[in-house]
Amino acid sequence: MDSFEAAGARFDLSAAEGALAQAQQPGLRPVLAGPGKELALLLGTVDGQIRIEGRVTTREPGFDGPLHQFMIGTDYVAPVFEALGRLFEGESRTGEPTTTATGIEVRTVTGRPLLDGRVTDRLLATVASGSLTAQGLRDVLDLLVALGIRRTGNERFLQGKAFRIADSVAPAKDDVRLDDLGGLDAVVSQLRDVADSFRHPEVMARWGARRPQGILMWGPPGTGKTTLARALANEIGGTLREIRSNEILDRWMGASERNIAKVFAEARGYREPTVLLFDEFDSIVSYAGRPQGSADQAINSVAGIFKQEMNTLIEANPQVIVVATTNFPDRVDESLIRSGRFDIKLAVPLPGRAARADILTKQLDALRRHHPTFQLLAEDISVAELAERAAGLSGADLAEVLRRAQLEKAMTEARGGQAGPITQADLLHAISRLSGAQT
Ligand SMILES: Nc1ncnc2c1ncn2[C@@H]1O[C@H](COP(=O)(O)OP(=O)(O)OP(=O)(O)O)[C@@H](O)[C@H]1O
Ligand SMILES: [Mg+2]
Repeated sequence: MDSFEAAGARFDLSAAEGALAQAQQPGLRPVLAGPGKELALLLGTVDGQIRIEGRVTTREPGFDGPLHQFMIGTDYVAPVFEALGRLFEGESRTGEPTTTATGIEVRTVTGRPLLDGRVTDRLLATVASGSLTAQGLRDVLDLLVALGIRRTGNERFLQGKAFRIADSVAPAKDDVRLDDLGGLDAVVSQLRDVADSFRHPEVMARWGARRPQGILMWGPPGTGKTTLARALANEIGGTLREIRSNEILDRWMGASERNIAKVFAEARGYREPTVLLFDEFDSIVSYAGRPQGSADQAINSVAGIFKQEMNTLIEANPQVIVVATTNFPDRVDESLIRSGRFDIKLAVPLPGRAARADILTKQLDALRRHHPTFQLLAEDISVAELAERAAGLSGADLAEVLRRAQLEKAMTEARGGQAGPITQADLLHAISRLSGAQT
């Protein structure tokens, strides 16, 4: 039973015993290594019991890229509205517990789609220490794959991929630096200041100055907010702890409040510099000021706990800095972002022409750096022209332009053809396809 196949993917379980041994240590750690981020499996001991968490991230059918692509052309109007309808459908739902073949009881938590159509569904299980076996892990993986098939409606949605259970997957080596972000000079320089104040607590103390404890970043999708938070974590030589809304929100009375209190209780104990990132912050605390139904009431009290905790966190643990990101700043209650809680508010807008040129320059440089011996890019590339033609695209869209051009070349070659380096024309073509001008 060292490996098995599901949904077109191969799963190698040979290191499962090692992963189970590691799981006796406190804290959740990812143990599934593989290409792409569709599947994640986390294992660890929490409150003396083994916690298993499986995550499957898929795209909602009907989405295949940033929302604005769908805004162009009448053909796409219907899917947009359909998608928006789904988007605002409500909170995530928790399903009935399912029992696997090995007797593990798993709860399914249905995620809520993000603006770009991504949804992360979760499987959560807690078992007594010692009763989890490699076969148990396999069963959980099987359920995870079934969940992905149900969401995508595609029996072979993992086609051709290979995943492997590893003792402990080092959090993907993530050396993104503030320098890697283009067109955000003002934002980056503010974050550098934050990092400096963080690294020199003794200087801050001498002057009786308090470093910022919270940063709110807001702006449209794909402009680099999450990446900035990751870069900040690297800049302070620390780690990133990312909190997603479905880790907090729970329809059971009092459960959301307990979850948020727990996140902060854990944060008080962090021994190394940590950026505590609340991504999609608005969905954790939205409508906080306007309680209506009981669900809103719960969200409101989550916001209340958040406020209290933010007031005392920095005194309790100077190693932690809180970052929250949102696409909808007006959904975040004013009193939550009042200074003192979020001292710094940063707008992260869509890039203008010069910023797009800067982003492209950095992304192209990174590509060259990662492929030092292979000529990926032709000599004829003009960043200025690309930037000009990419009006309206975000940093994430520009990354997607490069990714598509790379994929096209790789596929040509994989099918036995000859693929020259990526040219200006290839990139312009990808840009116009992504902008919807030529779909
Ligand atoms: N300013 C930028 N410079 C370089 N790359 C960028 C920039 N902005 C975005 N990107 C690219 O886009 C990807 C996605 O960006 P990121 O996830 O940080 O966006 P976001 O603002 O958090 O979006 P969302 O609001 O949808 O969560 C990054 O991994 C990076 O490759
Ligand atoms: Mg983000």
